[in-house]
Amino acid sequence: MPESARYQYPTAPTSVSRARADCVTALADWGLNATDNAGAGEVLTIVGELMANAVTHGRVPGTYGRQVGFTLELTDVNLLRVEVRDAQSDRMPEKKHVRELDTHGRGLFLVDALSDTWGVRKEVIGKTVWAEKRVKSETEQSASRIAIATDGAARQPNAVDADHSWGDPGHAADGR
Ligand SMILES: Nc1ncnc2c1ncn2[C@@H]1O[C@H](COP(=O)(O)OP(=O)(O)O)[C@@H](O)[C@H]1O
Ligand SMILES: [Mg+2]
Repeated sequence: MPESARYQYPTAPTSVSRARADCVTALADWGLNATDNAGAGEVLTIVGELMANAVTHGRVPGTYGRQVGFTLELTDVNLLRVEVRDAQSDRMPEKKHVRELDTHGRGLFLVDALSDTWGVRKEVIGKTVWAEKRVKSETEQSASRIAIATDGAARQPNAVDADHSWGDPGHAADGR
């Protein structure tokens, strides 16, 4: 079933973690776990990068209020779509040329690498940066969780170790 959630935040650094927390809650409401579901976890990173950009580069000096919009949508084909809108019209996102020791300028590279597609849409005021990522459905997510649990049980290391240590006289505790 298609789902969507919308939020508005102040143009402040604390809004980045608020958006991440809201994203985790929305995904959980839709049966997607950002820890178990690799795609959903990557969407959370994308949200953090786009929000960080909106509150820093997308800030309009001298203005206040809830100017950053965050929308999260889950389509009926399990595509998660993120939109982050800010009110800054003068500058646009652009992937930078970064050198090995640079500590900034990698956010959009991450978004590019982790999403299936992303882009920017100019608005009358400001712009919307969006990204899409196909994620596992709720059913696929629980199927892989069961597979991991079953595989883990079959490969219990203790069962093998116990056989060796108890059965091998070389490991006898009294040294015989
Ligand atoms: N929302 C935005 N509004 C205006 N400029 C942006 C926005 N997002 C990104 N940019 C521009 O794109 C550049 C690259 O962004 P990014 O890869 O996230 O690196 P960083 O944020 O570390 O500078 C930024 O330095 C900035 O100039
Ligand atoms: Mg950035």
